[in-house]
Amino acid sequence: MTDDLRGVPTSASRIRLSRVVDALDANLHGNVHGGAIMRLVDEAAGVVASRHSGGRVVTAVVDEMQFVVPVHVGDVVTCEAQVNWSGRTSCEIGVRVTAQPWDQAGEAGRHVASAYLVFVAVDDAGHPRVVPPVMPENDEGRRRFREAEIRRGTRLARREAILRSRERTPAG
Ligand SMILES: CC(C)(COP(=O)(O)OP(=O)(O)OC[C@H]1O[C@@H](n2cnc3c(N)ncnc32)[C@H](O)[C@@H]1OP(=O)(O)O)[C@@H](O)C(=O)NCCC(=O)NCCS
Repeated sequence: MTDDLRGVPTSASRIRLSRVVDALDANLHGNVHGGAIMRLVDEAAGVVASRHSGGRVVTAVVDEMQFVVPVHVGDVVTCEAQVNWSGRTSCEIGVRVTAQPWDQAGEAGRHVASAYLVFVAVDDAGHPRVVPPVMPENDEGRRRFREAEIRRGTRLARREAILRSRERTPAG
């Protein structure tokens, strides 16, 4: 854990994580189960959030998980993950997933999925703790930061609207 709350550049925590998906990851149609991809996405994003915040984190929100095309048994699946935005105790991690047949090194990876995840940094008691601000390093990083702020606004507004609706119409 760190008490140093100076800005941390995006590149300090960015990672690329790969694994070969096998028959144990298959769904009933013989492709790779979406849950297997989600686990890899959560793992990659969790590493980035832990590195950025300098300690323990929990997944708070998995947002906009999109599956673009199927993943096949025997593909090398690669997650590229980086921190897009940070708030007081939370941060948003963007993950892009590509896949390549395990035996065709020269072939460009297919974009198979992407997602945005919100992690909250927590202390040993599980209470939220402050995270360092993220420092975007180029125009693309600044664009990601702005767009992450828009998504955060939408998430919080949606949560507020649902809570207000429940207050007006208690479940019964
Ligand atoms: C995530 C958790 C620590 C949040 O606790 P909390 O008491 O609601 O904390 P807060 O209300 O102070 O919110 C903490 C941060 O999360 C953000 N947050 C919480 N819910 C959010 C949502 N739905 N969308 C976006 N941000 C959210 C808050 O905005 C705040 O961020 P900020 O400090 O950067 O502004 C708590 O809900 C928890 O432990 N959940 C279980 C996590 C877990 O086990 N994950 C693994 C899944 S198996």
